[in-house]
Amino acid sequence: MSAAEKARIASFRSRDAARLFIAGRLLCRSIIGRMVGCAPQALTISLTPHGRPYLPDHADIDFNLSHTKDRVALAVCRGGRVGIDIEQPDRLSETEALEIMPLILCERELDDIQRQAPEQRHKAFLSYWVRKEAVLKCRGRGFLDDPRDIALGPADTTANMSKRSFYEANFIRSGSCRSENAPNFLWAVAASQMLSEPIWQQHRDIGA
Ligand SMILES: CC(C)(COP(=O)(O)OP(=O)(O)OC[C@H]1O[C@@H](n2cnc3c(N)ncnc32)[C@H](O)[C@@H]1OP(=O)(O)O)[C@@H](O)C(=O)NCCC(=O)NCCS
Repeated sequence: MSAAEKARIASFRSRDAARLFIAGRLLCRSIIGRMVGCAPQALTISLTPHGRPYLPDHADIDFNLSHTKDRVALAVCRGGRVGIDIEQPDRLSETEALEIMPLILCERELDDIQRQAPEQRHKAFLSYWVRKEAVLKCRGRGFLDDPRDIALGPADTTANMSKRSFYEANFIRSGSCRSENAPNFLWAVAASQMLSEPIWQQHRDIGA
């Protein structure tokens, strides 16, 4: 860990949050270190002014991290930008979801949710949420940009609906995943280039 990462670890009030951060940095350092042929501790990870981690010494490689309660996901891409989001279905109660839907979805997407059977709506909303958050993280400003401005196309591409037309479209892959002894979770990866089917690598033993 760098001095900045150690300071960040020391600043966490929650031990679980600190563990997720450490697991994320371990994943980055070991996987990307192997890709570029350097020792994990030799990899420099910097942050943009909006907090997005990047590799100043490897401009051709982009990565992004996401965590939920008990897991961390890392997406890595060469020659483009990438964003990832993972969420557990119970992250929001039905009531919370209803409250924040109008802040995340545009009119057309709200209509789409309304057309679904009531028992499907929560999952449909979370599916919009993970895809939009992956796009926002790919672009690098997170929720500083308005998720309602991202229109999700039928073929899982995006179009910009307003002001920030300088952003390029994103290509998205999404789905849900189940692993042993852990609840189902939703995932989405957005990238500035066409995505092939993701190859999942599971890393279980991050340590206590
Ligand atoms: C980016 C953002 C959507 C992440 O939300 P979250 O609930 O923590 O979601 P996730 O678990 O999926 O992602 C966390 C990871 O995203 C990455 N990240 C942080 N800021 C990011 C950004 N602006 N863009 C893309 N990725 C970002 C980090 O790797 C972070 O994990 P780490 O701190 O362990 O390295 C949210 O923080 C946001 O909207 N931020 C807006 C920018 C901002 O306010 N920055 C203030 C700090 S300068």
